[in-house]
Amino acid sequence: MDTSNIQQIKQRYGIVGNSDGLNRALDIAIQVAPTDLSVLIIGESGVGKEVLPRVIHDNSARKHSKYFAINCGSIPEGTIDSELFGHSKGAFTGAVSEREGYFGAANKGTLFLDEVGELPIATQARLLRVLETGEYIRVGESEVRKTDVRIVAATNVNMQKAIREGRFREDLFYRLNTIPISLPPLRERGRDIEMLFRKFAIEISEKYRREPIRLTPDARDLLMAYKWPGNIRQLRNLTEQISIISSEREITSEILKQYGVTDDSTEGGLVLTNTGSTNQHSYENERELLFHLLTKIGNEMKDLKDYVRSNIGNMQHHPTSENTPARHDDIMNVEALSDNRYTFGTDDGMKITTMSQPHVASQAQKQRRFVDSEPETIIESPLTIKDVEKLKISDTLQRNNGSRRNTSIELGISERTLYRKIKEYGLDI
Ligand SMILES: Nc1ncnc2c1ncn2[C@@H]1O[C@H](COP(=O)(O)OP(=O)(O)OP(=O)(O)O)[C@@H](O)[C@H]1O
Ligand SMILES: [Mg+2]
Repeated sequence: MDTSNIQQIKQRYGIVGNSDGLNRALDIAIQVAPTDLSVLIIGESGVGKEVLPRVIHDNSARKHSKYFAINCGSIPEGTIDSELFGHSKGAFTGAVSEREGYFGAANKGTLFLDEVGELPIATQARLLRVLETGEYIRVGESEVRKTDVRIVAATNVNMQKAIREGRFREDLFYRLNTIPISLPPLRERGRDIEMLFRKFAIEISEKYRREPIRLTPDARDLLMAYKWPGNIRQLRNLTEQISIISSEREITSEILKQYGVTDDSTEGGLVLTNTGSTNQHSYENERELLFHLLTKIGNEMKDLKDYVRSNIGNMQHHPTSENTPARHDDIMNVEALSDNRYTFGTDDGMKITTMSQPHVASQAQKQRRFVDSEPETIIESPLTIKDVEKLKISDTLQRNNGSRRNTSIELGISERTLYRKIKEYGLDI
């Protein structure tokens, strides 16, 4: 292993860590870079797969030619063939001009196919052909074109499982996997955890001009014992959160626990993010997303109704009609706000704000908008399905530290559908 070369690469690309697993991955990347062999980078979500293809390209004879990174999960199924292989003018509705496609544009260069496990099966056949023969055909044409592209692919899905389930071609997998590079999860990188924490803490302190946070010995032990289901992405987000929110600069294990760092990997639902190789749903269409969400909303509405019944059900017994506003003292602590809204408290301290004076509980129940179940909840006009979907997606993304893969798994939709939704709702900023 050429350790000085590896250290140089780390410096150049801002890669932190000195664990055997990381060094081995970098060593293979450097060794394989000058060849034209296909490389498949494998590792859980957030382990740092995206930097390796760049390292390979920059250390190859192709370094002066084009490098494109394409996220296969983010391109809609209907356009992926034309994006990758190009199309002729008029090939389909909306094809107002011809398109070269990445395989043509990257001739003599490198294509990084990220999340390659998400490629539709028809596209996999085209990809196999170009990998084996260098030949491809643009959508809507019959002319065979040639290209010379080096492929580096990455995946965080269990490819063997995808093959067994018929979602990924075995022959393509072996073709892509000529040189596998495995990036270990953060929990297997020992002292790297502490080094990464320090790097992120310093970066954030410089950005926000605050003293960097540091760890007490017990906090360091806890950080090392934690399972890090979201890997380095999760560590970066956590360091950022604590740096900004905590008033303390010396971080103890108690403080870390408040941010969900536990020494038990199964706690707190975080295990959901550790899904690189576990069960995955693959619902391709929107109907299923909506169905899924509506079922969830249905359950939430039921809980809500039960809650309202048990907490303000006594309002229903008051002799006011549906259309006659109740007197303020009919309902617990009703308070008219200056902007035509009314608040009333429930006996467990939750404050509900309505857009109109509360009539009776059944009327209130008809106005169903629960934006938040925290101390103050607003009930106003009903949400559209799109509103609910947007809220649900943004909430789940946040909970999963921005990991689209884990979010898609939690929502039970394919990553492709999720990418489309993120774009549609402008959640990708
Ligand atoms: N060794 C490292 N040193 C410094 N930063 C790192 C390292 N590894 C990863 N990161 C940072 O962690 C974040 C996540 O890395 P990256 O996006 O490459 O993950 P990934 O493996 O592609 O995950 P996914 O499968 O979810 O796409 C990035 O911000 C990246 O810069
Ligand atoms: Mg990635």
